[in-house]
Amino acid sequence: MSQSEQNSNTKSLPRQYGDGDASYQAAGGEVGIKQLVDDFYDVMGELPQASRIRAMHPDDLEVTRDKLTRFLCGWLGGPKLFREKYGPIQIPRAHSQLDIGVDERDAWLKCMELALEKQAAYDASFKRYMLKELFRPADRSRTREE
Ligand code: HEM
Repeated sequence: MSQSEQNSNTKSLPRQYGDGDASYQAAGGEVGIKQLVDDFYDVMGELPQASRIRAMHPDDLEVTRDKLTRFLCGWLGGPKLFREKYGPIQIPRAHSQLDIGVDERDAWLKCMELALEKQAAYDASFKRYMLKELFRPADRSRTREE
């Protein structure tokens, strides 16, 4: 039997990212996502390219970190923890009062790219997948046409 035939007969096929909670699991669940978000905001605090977007946030990032962690849990197919605590959210609306153009979007994504690189437990394929998928909500957060 070839490898592919064997795989097609196996009950527990590896799931694609985006399928059910496969991405949430690949990200290490709530604990793994919290680590990613902590690294993300730490990078934002250090990266010169991100100083403008860091300044849009409150000095104390405790609630902000909690919000992004909870949002990403649901966004990756896990439990809807943001809604549970803070109510419904719509990403463009959540950013509508901010001045976000291409530079700000790219700075946000750069922080995420560097934070993803720090996650030793993540598969390289998952890091690439996540960065690619995040482009969409990041672009939808733009409030400025360029
Ligand atoms: C494109 C660049 C982005 C910038 C500059 C940006 C900036 C911000 C800022 C300044 C806040 C307010 C933080 C606070 O007051 O605590 C915020 C809130 C938030 N952002 Fe972003 N953000 C961006 C993209 C994203 C993306 C791509 C996501 C999700 C994948 C996201 C998820 C959130 C969430 C869940 C909140 C909390 C909203 C709420 O309080 O109801 N952001 N963002």
